[in-house]
Amino acid sequence: MSTTTSFQLLNKDLKSMGGSVLVTFSRSLSQKDKAEKSVHLSFPGLAQSLAQSIEDKNITGKALETCVFRELKFQGYRHVVVVGTGTAKDFDHEVARQAFAAAFDAIKSLNTKEAFIDFDSLGAGKKDLSACAKAAAEGLVLASYVFDDCKSKKKEKDSSLLIHVVTSKAADKVMKTSFSEGLVLADVVNFSRNLGDTPGNLMTPTILAERTQEAAKGSGLRVTVWDKARIKKEKMGGLLGVSLGSDQEPRFIIMEYNGAAKSKQPIVFVGKGLTFDSGGISIKPSAAMEEMKYDMCGGANVIGTMLAIARLKLKVNVMGLVPATENMPGPSANKPGDICFARNGKSFEVNNTDAEGRLILSDALCYASEQKPAMIVDAATLTGAMVVALGNTHTGFFTRNQDLKNKIKKASEASGEWTWQMPLCDFHVKDMKGTFADLSNMSSGKGAGSATAAAFLEQFVAEGIPWAHFDIAGTGWAVGNRLNYCPKKGASGVMIRTFVELARLYA
Ligand code: BES
Ligand code: ZN
Ligand code: ZN
Repeated sequence: MSTTTSFQLLNKDLKSMGGSVLVTFSRSLSQKDKAEKSVHLSFPGLAQSLAQSIEDKNITGKALETCVFRELKFQGYRHVVVVGTGTAKDFDHEVARQAFAAAFDAIKSLNTKEAFIDFDSLGAGKKDLSACAKAAAEGLVLASYVFDDCKSKKKEKDSSLLIHVVTSKAADKVMKTSFSEGLVLADVVNFSRNLGDTPGNLMTPTILAERTQEAAKGSGLRVTVWDKARIKKEKMGGLLGVSLGSDQEPRFIIMEYNGAAKSKQPIVFVGKGLTFDSGGISIKPSAAMEEMKYDMCGGANVIGTMLAIARLKLKVNVMGLVPATENMPGPSANKPGDICFARNGKSFEVNNTDAEGRLILSDALCYASEQKPAMIVDAATLTGAMVVALGNTHTGFFTRNQDLKNKIKKASEASGEWTWQMPLCDFHVKDMKGTFADLSNMSSGKGAGSATAAAFLEQFVAEGIPWAHFDIAGTGWAVGNRLNYCPKKGASGVMIRTFVELARLYA
């Protein structure tokens, strides 16, 4: 990142300070309260100062409405920004996250070195305080992400920006902890976004493994990387098969974190690390093929999840597994009809070499099962069908375990990331039966492409282990049209925050 931006909680009385930029939040009033005015501004004197703008309905308090008053010179503040947070009824920590992201964008536009954000004007009740403190930190840090590693001229080189989140509760322990947890989470999300945005030539399986090792240094994570020879020796026929069409060696990345007693069962996260998916011999059309550098976002986000869990020192034992390879149509590539054997001995026909994610995940899920974990969760940009089903708002997940489903719902409510359960049943399993091998990587039926892919994965999870699969094909990148703290085109880092919340439920 070219601009160094820092964020800190500050316990000060904004009224008696002054400075370059003041950001305060406005709330729209409900119909009932609207008789006299329509917007509530909690900062003393500001409503009087902006009376005309309120009268003219330039400020309505509607969520995300951002009004920048340059050179207002209000109580010693040169510029004032008013960000709407909607009605009290609709307010939650996601509104706060987006409001802080909007605040960040406005501060950026003012080209300043220092800004003060009036946290207390959010009007977060006691119950929401901790969630809003976390959301505030996340909104700011997530909105600050830029990917300019490959630009020769960096914007605003060497500039620095200090943003103070000012609150009378800055000394409160819960408030402080939540705010700093938010900073950690958003920081790892930005790290994972960077892995995703880095193009395929600069983010090979080898580089992905190196970046993981480098990032894990000093974090308490143990990282082991298997090379091609080891992958072959470990009978990972799915991962090996997919890698055959490429000059780049595959890698199997194993991350371990022990935050609890040795005797405690681990939980395992698995992520698809396809550093570029050309489709292989069943080659993809060229339109938008460049987006397939993002086919490792499941892996990148599992790496981020592991880093966050270690940095937050959660009291759980966790393993993170990322099978990493390219899918290319080189002379030794898998051919349609080829049969491979996964680590658990099950065979599959590769009837379409573009359905490669499930092949590399098969071995990883076998290895995960061998750890006798309390649960396995995977994330993968697995199917185009997922994009058709849910677009880029919700991440679809599949599980047959009711308890895990409840935990996922709880975790995603706490994180603010939207998830939606998708069906998975025996009919989907039946559709994946092979003719010449145990399984086919293509469904024999029509439709439900995401569910049949999930059914394929299920064949590699040992009986009785709670397991859920998250298809992030629609939400892994380009969600900025929905969420103002995500880049318009780049990787989103989706599910890291939910996975960390999920891990907490096993602590
Ligand atoms: N990586 C793709 C899935 C994908 C497509 C993610 C578009 C995001 C956007 C995956 O490897 C793939 O190509 N899947 C095929 C499976 C099919 C051949 C059964 C698909 O979805 O078309
Ligand atoms: Zn593919
Ligand atoms: Zn793929």
